Amino acid sequence: MQSKVTVTTLYTMKTKGEKIAAVTAYDYPFAQMADAAGVHVILVGDSLGMVVQGLTTTLPVTMDEMIYHTRMVARAADHALVIGDMPFMSYQAGAADALLNAGRFLKEAGAAAVKLEGGASVCETMRLMTQAGIPVMAHIGLTPQSVHQMGGFKVQRDEDRLVADGLAVEQAGAFSVVLEGIPAQIAEKITKTLKIPTIGIGAGPACDGQILVLHDMLGLTERHVPKFVKRYAQLGRSAGEAFTSFIQEVRTGAFPGDEHCY
Ligand code: KIV
Repeated sequence: MQSKVTVTTLYTMKTKGEKIAAVTAYDYPFAQMADAAGVHVILVGDSLGMVVQGLTTTLPVTMDEMIYHTRMVARAADHALVIGDMPFMSYQAGAADALLNAGRFLKEAGAAAVKLEGGASVCETMRLMTQAGIPVMAHIGLTPQSVHQMGGFKVQRDEDRLVADGLAVEQAGAFSVVLEGIPAQIAEKITKTLKIPTIGIGAGPACDGQILVLHDMLGLTERHVPKFVKRYAQLGRSAGEAFTSFIQEVRTGAFPGDEHCY
């Protein structure tokens, strides 16, 4: 059995050249499946706003919702490192708020770390968190909480700024950094420059690890998925077929059969 993954496990993996497999999850059953399969990191992403709540952006997601989902995931994860994603406006308005909200993920929800979006601009906040003993994962490149500022969910190509952001979050004490929606060659440069592991999503193969949104990779959603997503299953299609069969059998009386009766 695999032992518990910690932030130091991830450093060691980078050093040894072992790739890190990360997924998002938002509830107990899927977290349990991912954990049992051996994923190293489960991120309770604020992407839940889009794939679970049916919103068009992550912006309305609240701290209380994140705590609720993180609790379910942490309960299921025996091995994977569980990271709680700090939602929009839970860390931008001030240091004290940010620290208390980050602390809630560890204290109330059972996460072992938090993630927040932004590079140099959020370094002071990251420093305070790491000084308080809260491990922080950074997230640079396409940062969905800034969708309006970026003018949409757009690939980010400013190489100098991306490399500077990577270095800044490493210096601020982040234990890892998500690289989202950036050209593969820039992600490779950042990965080679930094000592901390990079986890890519739409950032090419050179990153130290990869993360995918669970609903996208399992085909649970019919929403448009970006080019970087690979569908490893079509669970949405299977569920649709199961519902159709159920309706049919209820209509014809084929269900329940004798074997389902007391
Ligand atoms: O919210 C999320 O799921 C994320 C990942 C896409 C990295 O931030």
